[in-house]
Amino acid sequence: MYNAILRLRALRSYADRPVSPTHVDQLVEAARWTGSSKNLQNWSFILVDDPQQQEALSAAGDFTDPVRAAPLTIALVQEPDGYEFDTGRVAQNIMLAAAALGLASCPITLHRDEVAAEVLGLPEGRRCRYAVAVGYPAESAAPRAFGGRKPVEELLHRNRYGG
Ligand SMILES: Cc1cc2nc3c(=O)[nH]c(=O)nc-3n(C[C@H](O)[C@H](O)[C@H](O)COP(=O)(O)O)c2cc1C
Repeated sequence: MYNAILRLRALRSYADRPVSPTHVDQLVEAARWTGSSKNLQNWSFILVDDPQQQEALSAAGDFTDPVRAAPLTIALVQEPDGYEFDTGRVAQNIMLAAAALGLASCPITLHRDEVAAEVLGLPEGRRCRYAVAVGYPAESAAPRAFGGRKPVEELLHRNRYGG
């Protein structure tokens, strides 16, 4: 588990085959069991696997090539009173579950969430600003070369900022 966390990378190239129904169910289960503030679970998930819908959804963000490339995109809907922090936790759980099942995934920002809302047919009060693209990794799938991390000295403080 610990190594899976350290190894998790955004992957943006996918094999040309659908995600199996069992794997889809397992991803949804991982999302559903995510902890949320006060256990309110103010979220819902839209499985987007229709190519026309994927194309339309991809227009809602600036870096959405993975949505076009992947056989499945899971749109994360913030229901009324939902928190973005909870959405982030769902996204990470979906990605970790995907990796455990041999799937590649990439978080997606839908910068124009009003476009996403229109495409997805969201009722009033719901918002979708994030999604996760998922698929079996293409043979060529590899993390981006510039995906390193800041050294710990740059980001860790003790007791107070700068300490
Ligand atoms: C909140 C969030 C939004 C992201 N949105 C996008 C996106 O719209 N398109 C994309 O290709 N990658 C997106 N990413 C992936 C990041 O670019 C990626 O995680 C980062 O470059 C580090 O690479 P790594 O996860 O492979 O280590 C997003 C990541 C996060 C955490």
